[in-house]
Amino acid sequence: MNKQLLNLLKTRRSVLSKNLSAPGPDKEQLDTILEIATRVPDHRKLEPWRFIVIQGDARKKLGEQFCKIKLADCELTDDQIKAETNRYNHAPVVIVVVFSPVEHKTPVFEQLLSCGAVCQHVNLAALALEFNSQWVTNWCAFDKGAQKELGLKPHESIAGFIHIGTAQCTPNDRQRPDLNKKVNYYT
Ligand SMILES: Cc1cc2nc3c(=O)[nH]c(=O)nc-3n(C[C@H](O)[C@H](O)[C@H](O)COP(=O)(O)O)c2cc1C
Repeated sequence: MNKQLLNLLKTRRSVLSKNLSAPGPDKEQLDTILEIATRVPDHRKLEPWRFIVIQGDARKKLGEQFCKIKLADCELTDDQIKAETNRYNHAPVVIVVVFSPVEHKTPVFEQLLSCGAVCQHVNLAALALEFNSQWVTNWCAFDKGAQKELGLKPHESIAGFIHIGTAQCTPNDRQRPDLNKKVNYYT
């Protein structure tokens, strides 16, 4: 039994992206995260996902671009502008997981499930490397302008922005599901 792995899985927690900062994964660690991320169940090997890595100065640029997109839509207070422009300035690395479905007899639903598994593998790989992370969507994931800024094709969508870094504070656990209410045994 791999007690260390079990303990990691049993106690894992996301850390809010605003509470993540350096250090983040270096190039080798980032490659490890991406390799593990793609080692997911994938019916008929369609690989219906891809990644966009945001790091360094690109984080500031993306926050500023997204803020402009938001401002074209609605008014923002100074505090909201600050929050929008700083959205990607906390965690050193953000991996955008793009859902890129393939025309195929494998249902899109199954392809989407595989993409969800990719996102959680990013979380778990980051944790195994002793980083913290948070899977976030927010308005940016669903906004056409934001998707265009990231170069998404019309059939693609954003499954998540996974922020990866080091926690500035340890989160308390949150209430977990009552298994008695979630599990039935077919007899
Ligand atoms: C698809 C998806 C999108 C999410 N988007 C957000 C988000 O935009 N903002 C947020 O605070 N949490 C978001 N979350 C929740 C966090 O990733 C995280 O699961 C939650 O804070 C609970 O933490 P835990 O992983 O420690 O249980 C999202 C989760 C999923 C699965």
